[in-house]
Amino acid sequence: MLHTNRKLIPSLAAALLLAGTFAGAVQAAEVHLSLTAKEADVPADNAGHMRHAWTYDGKVPGPLLRVTQGDTVVFTLKNDPANKNSHSIDLHTVRGDVLTTFAPIKPGESKTFTFTADNPGIFFYHCGSDPMIQHIANGMFGAIIVDPKDPNAMPKADREYVLIESELFDNGEDVKGMMADHWQHTAFNGIPFRYDPVHDENATQTLEAKPGERVRIYLINAGPNDFSSFHPIAGIWDKVYPSGNPKNVLTDVQAYTVAPGDAAAFDIISPVEGANALVDHSMRSALSGAIAILMFSKTADPSMGHGDKILVR
Ligand code: CU
Ligand code: CU
Repeated sequence: MLHTNRKLIPSLAAALLLAGTFAGAVQAAEVHLSLTAKEADVPADNAGHMRHAWTYDGKVPGPLLRVTQGDTVVFTLKNDPANKNSHSIDLHTVRGDVLTTFAPIKPGESKTFTFTADNPGIFFYHCGSDPMIQHIANGMFGAIIVDPKDPNAMPKADREYVLIESELFDNGEDVKGMMADHWQHTAFNGIPFRYDPVHDENATQTLEAKPGERVRIYLINAGPNDFSSFHPIAGIWDKVYPSGNPKNVLTDVQAYTVAPGDAAAFDIISPVEGANALVDHSMRSALSGAIAILMFSKTADPSMGHGDKILVR
C-alpha cells in the first residue's frame, strides 16, 4: 500500500534553493509505505491450481514499491494475526541496523521505521526471518524502485517491466531440500512460464512493446540460491545498469549475470516486429519456468509496461 505526501521537506528544499543547480530535479517527499505479511494461498501455475505461500499483501511477488531518490520513507510492516510465523522485512535500499530495523515481529504485531532513499536503482526486498531460505523460497519477496532525482539521468524508457526470478519448492516445509537446492520449478513473478504461451498453453499474457521503443526490464534474482544469466533470445541488451544505478552502464551486452539477492536494469530496443524470449540462459532454469516472451508489435497494448502493468499480474 502506498501513500505519498508530496510536500517538500523544508530543510532539503532550502538546500536545493541554495544549490540553485537542480532545475528539473524532483522534489523530495515523505512517503508512507506499508506491507502486511500474510500466509495465504496463491496461484501455483497458469492453469489455476493454488499453493500455500508466505507473502507480502497476499501476493507473490509482493507489491511493487516506488519512491524517488531523496524521499524520506516511513515504512510500516504488519504481521497478520492469522499467521503462524514471525516475519520481517529486509529492504536493500536501507542503511541501518540489521538487528533492530530488520528484526522479526510476531503475528499480530507491527513495526515502523524510517529511512531516506539515498541511492537510485532497483532493489530487492524480502523477509529475513529465520530460516531466511524458507521465507524467501515460500514467496516473501518483492521489488522497490528508487527513481533518480534527476529525471534525465537515464534515457527515458517507453515501457518498464519488473521480473523477479525465483526457484520454487513444492514442499514449503522442506528446509533440508531448500539447503540442498532441490527445487522443482523456476519462475518470473511467482508462476512458471507466467508470460510464455509457447511453453505453457495456459499462459495468457506476454510482455508487449512496439519496435523502436526503449523497454526497461528490471530483473531481481530472489534466489534463494541460484545465479541467473539473463539473456534476450533474438535480441541484445542495449544497456545494462547493475543495481539500476544510472552511473553503472554497460553497452551491447548479450547476457549479464544477476546473483541471488542482486538486481539490474536492462534496456532493449527491437528494430523489427516479432518475439524475444527473455530467459535465464542456464538451461535447467529456463526450461523449468524462467522464460518470458516480449512481443514487439506495432499494435502493442498501450497500457502494458505502465502503471499497474509494470509488474504484470
Ligand atoms: Cu517471513
Ligand atoms: Cu537481502
